[in-house]
Amino acid sequence: MPSPKSKQIRLAINLLASGRHNASWKTLDEPAGLSTDIDVFVRIARTAERGLLDGIFLADNYAGLADESFKRPFRALSPSVLLAALAAHTSHIGLVSTVPALYGSPVTVAREIASLDHVSKGRAAWNIITSQHPHSLAILGLDGELPRSAKYDKADEFVTIVTQLWESLPPAAIVADAARSAYVDEGLLRPVDFQGDYYRAAGVLGVTGGYGGRRPVLLQAGASEASKQFGSKWADALFTSHWMKPSAQEFYRDVKQYAAEKWHRDPANLLVVPGVYPVLGATETQARQRKADLDDQLDLEYLKGSLAEVLGIDAADLDLARELPYDKIPPSDPDSPAGLARREKVVESARERGVTTRQVLLEYITGGHRIVVGTPQQVADDLTDWIDTDACDGFNFNVDRYLDGLDHIVEWLVPELQARRRFRTEYESTTFRGNLGLDGDLSDAA
Ligand SMILES: Cc1cc2nc3c(=O)[nH]c(=O)nc-3n(C[C@H](O)[C@H](O)[C@H](O)COP(=O)(O)O)c2cc1C
Repeated sequence: MPSPKSKQIRLAINLLASGRHNASWKTLDEPAGLSTDIDVFVRIARTAERGLLDGIFLADNYAGLADESFKRPFRALSPSVLLAALAAHTSHIGLVSTVPALYGSPVTVAREIASLDHVSKGRAAWNIITSQHPHSLAILGLDGELPRSAKYDKADEFVTIVTQLWESLPPAAIVADAARSAYVDEGLLRPVDFQGDYYRAAGVLGVTGGYGGRRPVLLQAGASEASKQFGSKWADALFTSHWMKPSAQEFYRDVKQYAAEKWHRDPANLLVVPGVYPVLGATETQARQRKADLDDQLDLEYLKGSLAEVLGIDAADLDLARELPYDKIPPSDPDSPAGLARREKVVESARERGVTTRQVLLEYITGGHRIVVGTPQQVADDLTDWIDTDACDGFNFNVDRYLDGLDHIVEWLVPELQARRRFRTEYESTTFRGNLGLDGDLSDAA
């Protein structure tokens, strides 16, 4: 075990063409083509790789052109297609594709992620999501949400099939024996024969499950107790969002414990990676100014509407100068899956810190991710403190604006972390699993 002082930090970026800040696009040249411009994404990916970051994460959902997209460039390209293109322009960085485990077909996902792993030579990851956003349900033609316990049962079947399919064609079965005229040795196949309550599947996937006989990395993003149980069973890494260190520490403790005690896994093979929104400046004043300049361009009336929706109240009840109207916010129904864990988190952290509604709005635009503003030294102090006090194993950066926000991370923050011996000075491996220091041959798969 490395001593806490030398624990290495895992770093990834959340890739959005313009950046995480809702108004960042307003300050960029030619914003109209951003969401589909491959050259923009290539520049970002190459910069992240220059900074030796572990991975590029592409969030996604099936919501189509939802309200959010009317206000900012959003997710346009299919993540796995975009990441396959980025694979050709990079050589070491991990490529994380978000695909739901509730809709569509496990065989499509198994093939898509295995293909991404082969074309990137071992750099693919599947970010398993279980969201049931009303826009996604509508565009998929589905009637209603599943209650939380049922949705995780369904997702469990989905992931079981995907991982079994990845093992169904072991690399050793491709014997390519010209003398026997046998390309595949049928006796070495492990056909799937799965009958569940939600899915059935039988047969063998037409592609080996991962590059070099190692399965693609599994990530999972969720917040609830059910999600923690599910994630600690399947995932190599968990994406989370925590404002307050005590809740991050509780999450960390719980999932590591579940991994060990419930699923008999080595907890070191389950990484916890919360999002963070860093704003860097050569001085603290410059960093604060950078944040204020972007915040000044926000459409606060629109944001009030979406915050009111999360809180389950009328936008007219929100007064920017006052605290949230706590007495008007209805309690969340623990069985309803529609993002209510997020409501609790917003309310709890705002109340604890006594912040104004304006402050909550400015924080909410990061997608629930913690904002850290300051010099590279200050931000490095903050990040290493979270690592050293068992709040997480790394961070997923929600970059305020591309490309300069990422340049600041790569040119200022990474060298600071390297000087403290907390971040690599060269990639350890050409695979994502290798760089994350994870086990995971296909024969080890759950
Ligand atoms: C850090 C984080 C990232 C997420 N990313 C996505 C995403 O890209 N797309 C999506 O549809 N849902 C995303 N989700 C939503 C989760 O998949 C999940 O549906 C949500 O947390 C509600 O489930 P729960 O209440 O059981 O935790 C994310 C959640 C978290 C915490």
